[in-house]
Amino acid sequence: MIKIALFDAKPYDKPAFDRYGAQGGVEYHYFETKLTEETASLAAGYDGVCAFVNDDLSRPVIEKLYSLGIRLAVLRCAGFNNVDLQAAYGKIHVLRVPAYSPHAVAEHAMALLLTSVRRIHKAYNRTREFNFSLNGLAGFDLFGKTVGVIGAGKIGRAFIDICRGFSMRVLYYDKFAGEIEGATSVSLDTLFQESDVISLHCPLTEETDHLICAQTLAQMKKGVIIINTSRGGLIDAEDLLAAIKEKQVGAALLDVYEEESDLFFEDVSGHILQDDVLSRLLSMPNVIVTSHQAFLTEEALSAIAETTTQNAVDFFAGKPLVNEVCYRCESFGECKKQRKGKCF
Ligand code: NAI
Repeated sequence: MIKIALFDAKPYDKPAFDRYGAQGGVEYHYFETKLTEETASLAAGYDGVCAFVNDDLSRPVIEKLYSLGIRLAVLRCAGFNNVDLQAAYGKIHVLRVPAYSPHAVAEHAMALLLTSVRRIHKAYNRTREFNFSLNGLAGFDLFGKTVGVIGAGKIGRAFIDICRGFSMRVLYYDKFAGEIEGATSVSLDTLFQESDVISLHCPLTEETDHLICAQTLAQMKKGVIIINTSRGGLIDAEDLLAAIKEKQVGAALLDVYEEESDLFFEDVSGHILQDDVLSRLLSMPNVIVTSHQAFLTEEALSAIAETTTQNAVDFFAGKPLVNEVCYRCESFGECKKQRKGKCF
């Protein structure tokens, strides 16, 4: 039996991980705490760790895990910006779930957009109080509007397909992707200038960190709607707040937030929120925040547990690690995986 310490465990993780673990010969031990330098020692005696988006896999944590004999970190997510891949290289193999349900995230992005433009969140609260007035609920059609998609990978493309279904004009900017039927590849400047709605679907990297900031917000159409279901760090939240106050941004629909790690996924309703920027954003009538829930569908949870378990099984069976990530693949476009089946 392969024993994996699964950090930041939530009740909704367990059914699928138990099911696929039993099928694959992997026993998951669930730790509610996040993986940090302080909690890394809990991994002693396990064959590997399983981490999620807000677990810390920085250099000190990697070194601590390595000293405990851990050689495998399976991420139950697609993004890996929380991992110091350079520190992990040569020590701990890092595998992820590159795709589980791009539709889950893309559909959530559209759910946020529709909620905002048709004021569903306000109508829901009103009718529960028997307030059937329509005053202030006028929205607008998406039909014929221009949407700009930044990052046209699996999720970005799924979102593009949905937008095309609404007969929107679709522009996209992607550093690497080729042509997409029914959508127009444009420069970032053009995308900022022409889009009524901008949706972020690129990874968080040094290059994309604070891609949405005062300078780029100023380039956008007045009243632009910004959707972020990718990573919080893509947006400078203080600059976004200022642009909302100036009415440069018409709505901000955020499933992720740059300082989310101590808040999102947790119930902190009995506490005083210390993050003034988030408090102020939440007080805005044109801001909708969901707490990193875009992935949360039954289909996605199943696919995540299945691939994560397969990743662990492949590692211990010495099979090629198709889902391994390393800094060399990321930085140099070359990696030993093609020749050796693993990155080192
Ligand atoms: P993907 O790897 O299929 O697509 C990412 C795309 O971004 C690629 O086409 C790539 O060429 C492009 N890209 C890379 N650097 C870029 C740059 N500097 N400028 C423009 N485009 C760039 O990834 P996928 O599966 O579509 O996921 C996208 C992001 O969504 C992930 O990085 C992750 O952060 C986020 N995500 C959020 C979830 C949530 O629950 N909110 C769940 C899953 C993923």
